[in-house]
Amino acid sequence: SPLPLVDKYDRNISYLRISLTDRCNLRCIYCMPEDEDGRHTTTGVILQHADLLTYEEILRVSRLATAMGIRKIRLTGGEPLVRRGVLEFIQELKKDRGLEQLSLTTNGVLLADYAERLWQYGVRQLNISLDSLQAKKFFEITKRDLFAQVWRGICAAEELGFCIKINVVAMQGVNSDEFVNFAQLALDRNFEVRFIEFMPMGESTSWKKERFISVDDIIADIKTVAQLTPCNHAKGAGPAKMYDISSADGRTGKIGFISPLSHHFCDQCNRLRLTSEGKLRSCLLNDKELDLKSVIRTGGSDEELMAIIRKSVLTKPKGHSFDGNGPEDGEKCSGQMSRIGG
Ligand code: GTP
Ligand code: 5AD
Ligand code: SF4
Repeated sequence: SPLPLVDKYDRNISYLRISLTDRCNLRCIYCMPEDEDGRHTTTGVILQHADLLTYEEILRVSRLATAMGIRKIRLTGGEPLVRRGVLEFIQELKKDRGLEQLSLTTNGVLLADYAERLWQYGVRQLNISLDSLQAKKFFEITKRDLFAQVWRGICAAEELGFCIKINVVAMQGVNSDEFVNFAQLALDRNFEVRFIEFMPMGESTSWKKERFISVDDIIADIKTVAQLTPCNHAKGAGPAKMYDISSADGRTGKIGFISPLSHHFCDQCNRLRLTSEGKLRSCLLNDKELDLKSVIRTGGSDEELMAIIRKSVLTKPKGHSFDGNGPEDGEKCSGQMSRIGG
């Protein structure tokens, strides 16, 4: 079998994130683009079906990737569950013996319907994006009146036994009044609640300085209602800094903080990304991509495809040079989150 994937900085690449589609059934203000008239649409950003890798093509790439040492795959989007036939695809993907873990990052809109079959097909982990616990605020953030449906989906998944992480994009003046409620959620339920710093990603984002709130400030806020104790950061544990949270009345839970622009995760990053249009991207915050789709569609052999996977890994930067103001000279990142998959 081929040599495992190791990059120039000796990082072992064992985790592939696949964006199945750039489409989504929500229009979150931090992700999807906004029209001149202020309505959120997807004009000009939706890929055509032919632009996407087919499921057969993705299965081929993922089998080559697991042969090269990929052990974990995360399906993202857009919203992965809106792509037609996704459950059958997941069922096929799970048959790959080389794959140890398959997970999804989802907005939960379709979970009430899909959770049972996801469980049946062997998915055990779900990362669910939820930026508000209030129906009205949820609508303001996502432009869709689907809070109750998402909440039903989360509860259905919990009931089935999924290991659930809740992703909260922290926005000052938008959901900052709810951080303590999310902390309560981590105490009350068996969810790992993770706050993500709002990132200026893509042309579409409504990012502005006044809306940014740092992890340190979120932590200070939560400390007013609960105790936080840092967990040991296990190697390969991902971008979140994790804490044990506990309340005066003896409840406990796990809570995490992700500052995507900080560099603490880069030196142990094990990730490679496959974008929805079939490009390999070696870093979330770096635009360097290699086109796999065109090689697949011009009859590329498995060896050729594996060579491109390896080449992409070798382009993986040591880290990124972003700060809150964006990239430095020579590096750019125009990354559309819905296309890259976060
Ligand atoms: P697991 O560790 O597998 O649970 O995944 P995750 O937490 O990385 O995945 P998820 O899709 O839930 O992503 C949450 C957020 O983490 C994303 O929006 C990104 O902001 C951040 N993130 C994910 N991958 C990376 C990465 O490779 N580098 C950096 N800097 N941030 C990342
Ligand atoms: N800033 C921070 N997080 C973002 N996400 C999407 N766009 C942004 C952004 N601009 C989050 C989603 C999801 C995760 C994969 O990325 O909410 O939870
Ligand atoms: Fe790795 Fe790039 Fe993410 Fe840093 S930003 S952790 S280098 S993928």
